[in-house]
Formats: sequence, structure tokens, C-alpha cells
Amino acid sequence: MKIVVLTGAGISAESGVATFRDADGLWENHRIDDVATPEGFAADPELVQRFYDARRAALATVAPNPAHVALADLEKVLGEDLLLVTQNIDDLHERGGSRRVLHMHGQLLSALCVDCHRRSPWVGPLLGTAECPHCGYGVLRPDVVWFGEMPYFMDEIFEALTTCDLFVSIGTSGAVYPAAGFVQQARAFGARTLELNLEPSDGTHFFHEARHGRAGELVPAWVDELVHA
Ligand code: APR
Repeated sequence: MKIVVLTGAGISAESGVATFRDADGLWENHRIDDVATPEGFAADPELVQRFYDARRAALATVAPNPAHVALADLEKVLGEDLLLVTQNIDDLHERGGSRRVLHMHGQLLSALCVDCHRRSPWVGPLLGTAECPHCGYGVLRPDVVWFGEMPYFMDEIFEALTTCDLFVSIGTSGAVYPAAGFVQQARAFGARTLELNLEPSDGTHFFHEARHGRAGELVPAWVDELVHA
């Protein structure tokens, strides 16, 4: 059975990573437009670099939770029949043991050159750093897909969505396209669809089945059910 899993901020919430759409509508006390748009970066690059530098440094204080580990266990069983697509920029899937992860919104542990557009693995701060290691002169920015920018791996993801048997969406509000439309895409091509989220997402009615609760409980239970079916 071929499965595509899409994850969002909710899967990392129990690890202590803040989700985006909390009640106050702020992301770590900043307006999303200020820190997650090309316009925000152009207006105040230092603020944006500092913001992502802090998020990158905070990775050291969080650890994968049972939901990340369960998906890694599922990969061990399914191998290439599982495609894990995440909107998250943290590295908790990798640290949980997953090897085949597509970060459609980029990664904190990567820097993007604004001039040559090449990426470099990055662990420390970007603010005040030297130029791009590839071209030697370009400015480095966070390798994060901001609003108004094209997500990564779209061809690969759409190919997988149109050929999978099951699409599962975990911990995402369904507020941000194109990821929010994956359920309809998969369903149109014949997949069964399942939502695992704390509460009904914006697109909950598009799914054949929805289970609501904490990812740390729902995901291991679902993987267990699938593996032992
Ligand atoms: N278990 C499961 N779901 C949870 C948990 C939990 N412990 N805690 C929160 N959630 C759910 C929330 O109910 C919410 O529906 O996770 C969802 C998180 O939604 P968002 O904060 O909107 O995050 P996400 O859907 O990943 O955002 C998508 O928006 O800002 C952009 O690029 C950014 O990738 C991000 C995209």
C-alpha cells in the first residue's frame, strides 16, 4: 500500500515547538507578515535573521515525540511506499528516525543564497555571517519558503498524491495552500483520506475519516493499527 503523509506544526507541538495559528494569531510574538514574507525580509532583514536564528538555536532544546518516532517506524515497514511530506522547518522527523522526508517549506538547518540560489547546510546564526560558500559573495537568508514563494518538491509531491492509496494529514490547520489542497488532489485520484489533528481542520470535511486528539497519541495508535492489520 502506498501512503503519503503530510505533517504540520501540530506534530511538533508536544515537542515544545510553537504552532503558527495560536489564539493570538502571532508566531513567537511576531506578526507572520513581518517574519514570513519576502517583503518582511526586505523591510527588516536583521529582524528576520534574528528570528530564524532563534528558531534554529531552539532546535537544541526540543526532541522528537512519539508521533515522529511512529512515522519513522512506519517507514521501516513500508520503505519507498511511504512518502513523508512536511510543512515543518524543524528537524524532528529526521531526529525521530525518518530518512525520506520532503520539507516543502524548507528547513531551519539550511541557508539559501539570494544571489546564486544554492543551499548550504547551516547550524549556527545567519546574522552577520560571511558570504555564500558556493559563489563567495551572495547574502545568505533562511532556506524557508515564505508566503508568496513557491514550495519545494511540488512535482514529486503531486506525482505521489495521484498514485497513493492512502493520504494522511497530521497536525495541520489546513489554512495554507497548496498543502491544504493535497487531500482533494489525492481523493480525486482515488486515495482514501484520513485526518489526525487536535481539532477539526479547516478542510476536515474533505476527508473520508477524521480522528481528533493529540498527535503523540493518535499517530502511534494509527501506525500500530496499520502495521498489525
Ligand atoms: N496534536 C495534533 N494536532 C495539534 C496539536 C497536537 N498536540 N497541537 C496543535 N495541533 C493542531 C492545531 O489544532 C492546528 O490545527 O495543529 C494545527 C497547527 O496549525 P498551524 O499552526 O496553522 O500550522 P500548519 O498547518 O503547519 O501551518 C502551515 O503556515 O505559517 C505557515 O509556512 C507555515 O508551514 C506553515 C504553514
